[in-house]
Amino acid sequence: MLQIELMRWEQARAAASRIRYAVFVEEQGVPVEIELDEHDAECIHALAFDGGAALGTGRLLPDGHIGRMAVLREFRGRGVGSAILAKLIEAAARRGDREVLLSAQVHALAFYRAHGFSAEGEVYQDAGIPHQTMRRAL
Ligand SMILES: CC(C)(COP(=O)(O)OP(=O)(O)OC[C@H]1O[C@@H](n2cnc3c(N)ncnc32)[C@H](O)[C@@H]1OP(=O)(O)O)[C@@H](O)C(=O)NCCC(=O)NCCS
Repeated sequence: MLQIELMRWEQARAAASRIRYAVFVEEQGVPVEIELDEHDAECIHALAFDGGAALGTGRLLPDGHIGRMAVLREFRGRGVGSAILAKLIEAAARRGDREVLLSAQVHALAFYRAHGFSAEGEVYQDAGIPHQTMRRAL
């Protein structure tokens, strides 16, 4: 059964780093020094578990940005990413944020639109991947 847990970086680090390395560095070719940044320690992290194994992750920054959304390739398309995103949006709303923002990879725009986000501004490159800003009011 799918469970999403919110935690601090110290608790999330081992599983979240493993998933993010597999998805962003190995699969998407993002340089590891870009994947790991100084923000993790100040974020709320979500981890998705199914029977004890961690399958996906995401994070919420203090400024309301959601990022590092990653689900292991073999578990995609089953609602894991949606459940992680919903949990992070809920956490932002609970602490009183008025909106959540994303720097979305353009291939995932439809995924985020389905969760109430709207794209704005120009498409730009980050780590060699096209991105667009998305926003959702809470
Ligand atoms: C984006 C990601 C986190 C979504 O996770 P997921 O577990 O596959 O998402 P879900 O199963 O909840 O998908 C929900 C819906 O979004 C759609 N969807 C998922 N990824 C999509 C994509 N890249 N492009 C378009 N639609 C997508 C699914 O088809 C599904 O639609 P449906 O409910 O109508 O069938 C996952 O695809 C992933 O890890 N991708 C690689 C890393 C990445 O690109 N992260 C995003 C950085 S902005």
